Amino acid sequence: MSTTKKVKIIVPGSSNADLTGFAPHLPAAGETVMGSSLHIGIGGKGCNQMTAAARAGADAWFITRVGQDVFGETLRRHFAAEGFRDRYIREDGTAETGCALIEIDERDGQNRILVIPGVNRNIGAEDVRAAEADFADADAVLTQLEIDLSAVAEAKRLAQAAGKPFLLNPAPWQPLPDELLCGIDWFTPNETEAGGCSGIGITDGESVRRAARVLLGKGIRNVVITLGHRGAYWTDGTREVMVPGIRVQAVETTGAGDTFNGALAVAVAEGRDPEWALRFANAAAALSVTRLLQRVIDGHFYLADHATLICGAVDLE
Ligand code: RIB
Repeated sequence: MSTTKKVKIIVPGSSNADLTGFAPHLPAAGETVMGSSLHIGIGGKGCNQMTAAARAGADAWFITRVGQDVFGETLRRHFAAEGFRDRYIREDGTAETGCALIEIDERDGQNRILVIPGVNRNIGAEDVRAAEADFADADAVLTQLEIDLSAVAEAKRLAQAAGKPFLLNPAPWQPLPDELLCGIDWFTPNETEAGGCSGIGITDGESVRRAARVLLGKGIRNVVITLGHRGAYWTDGTREVMVPGIRVQAVETTGAGDTFNGALAVAVAEGRDPEWALRFANAAAALSVTRLLQRVIDGHFYLADHATLICGAVDLE
């Protein structure tokens, strides 16, 4: 399938400055470790999702807030460089720009993240409602849980009212009311989040299926459970697909889940078959963990040039 017109994706979400420190191993509680280097980059799950969607070819409509400080300016430069529409990007002087302190273990690229939300805390239903007119011709709406739950609920309501697919990545995890879960088109927890939401600990393939069935029982239409380097699982209750992980040399894993979601939203918006969508998102996430320099220099992973290159690389068709 080839698309000439860009799909329009709306992401209400967080924006952070990521202060990333690399170290030979991560400090234990009370331990001081001498790190190797510090990089200041762009992050926030919302911004990462939007960046991934934009780099996967979407017309990127971002709803966020930044503070009136140097990190806010840095983020604004990133938004402009990525071509984000900025009508709903607000400058908020009441707190600092969101910030994440990220520690990376150089041995395997695994991370530990402390987020200080700053003005992301102020992103609420009103921010989303301000963009209501743009939901009418959107192709998909994607969000996560680094903003107030009222904003998530409003995004779902407006997407449904406009008949557009609504995707929710429940990260970072918090308990969600059943009424919010009911009617979600695509729900994309990782293993931990799927366990928290379904009450079923994910230990093997069978528990993945059982957790997905519980989530479908809550009125979710498509459940995707991401399994890190082991791949991703999708079901809508009638079909299921397990896409294996793609073996790559992981350099840094920060934002891999966000990348998965941004790419998935584009594939869903383009009307792709779920298996294709899952493979595409899986490939994007795998690519994202292999890149260090591009991530820290110009924001995040570099998704080459939309589906063609990725599809060629992982033989999707
Ligand atoms: O998912 C990765 C992101 O989580 C980082 O970019 C950091 O800002 C936190 O929000």
